Amino acid sequence: MSVANYAARLPKAELHLHIEGSLEPEMMFALAMRNKLDIPFKSVDDIRAAYAFSNLQEFLDIYYQGMNVLKTEEDFFDLTMTYLNRVCIDKVRHAEIFFDPQAHTARGVPFDTAISGILTAFTMAKAQFGMTTKLILCFLRHLSEEDAFETLKQAEPWLDRITAVGLDSSEVGNPPSKFTRVFKAAKERGLKLVAHAGEEGPPEYIIEALDLLQIDRLDHGNRSLENSALVERLIREQMTLTVCPLSNLKLCVVDNMRSHPLKQMLDLGLRATIHSDDPAYFGGYMNNNFNAVIGALDLTKSHVKTLARNSFIGSFLSEGEKRAHLAAIEIIQSS
Ligand code: HPA
Ligand code: ZN
Repeated sequence: MSVANYAARLPKAELHLHIEGSLEPEMMFALAMRNKLDIPFKSVDDIRAAYAFSNLQEFLDIYYQGMNVLKTEEDFFDLTMTYLNRVCIDKVRHAEIFFDPQAHTARGVPFDTAISGILTAFTMAKAQFGMTTKLILCFLRHLSEEDAFETLKQAEPWLDRITAVGLDSSEVGNPPSKFTRVFKAAKERGLKLVAHAGEEGPPEYIIEALDLLQIDRLDHGNRSLENSALVERLIREQMTLTVCPLSNLKLCVVDNMRSHPLKQMLDLGLRATIHSDDPAYFGGYMNNNFNAVIGALDLTKSHVKTLARNSFIGSFLSEGEKRAHLAAIEIIQSS
């Protein structure tokens, strides 16, 4: 069996997925029609042609514009259900999903509308195909910490269904230190903590995320490789890095897939995992991301097994749940 076939059959956990980034052009059109909205595109091809980015900000501008079609609870349900159905084929058995409530409340869509639709899909995915899910509330780092506190307040009635807070959007110029107090407040409420750092921002931002935010998991973390003491620390602390290869390529974090640092990360002993970030915008879901790095970096079956194992080990599942998923990986034949 090829490495790619083996990877496709392995159970996996998705730990870095922005649900708004799973909005495919076809659904964007359908929701615009349903909600009687104008969108600045004439066709699906027109939309896809606009998906050429030279950095994170160029992507974010299109991403925030795209999600304007999400208005009702049903829209958020359909978006989430479509994603969960899609990744069943990729053997994603557990997903920890980001959402950006401030991107919705800022345009008049209530927090409760967005979260209700997403959580109803979570419940249905468990009932229909046994997939487990967790929700991560992301603060937009280009907004103020005060705004993040207001969002945490809106989340208060939902805290039993939210696992963690995260930090996303425009990284450079918005360091983790800007959000020290709100992350402390989230921790006091029993939430886990994650943050995007070292995607475009320098290694110092990763150090801030570790020291000031006290993160449990690091999103991206590519630029940690520029600082060997930081790499040693991440290995020592067994920090999980949720790496997104197709995203890195599309946002020019790497020049080409052959220069992607994933294999180097694994060989150094970093606990790296693979995820899809914003699959509708970056050209692929979980297995597309595996295939991209398997081909470009000549990954072995041992590498892909480590990646699948790391995805569960780095998740926020209980130890018992992790053990069950790791046992399921063992029974997949590699030959
Ligand atoms: N980086 C930062 N913010 C984001 C991303 C990303 O890749 N996707 C959605 N919001
Ligand atoms: Zn991301």
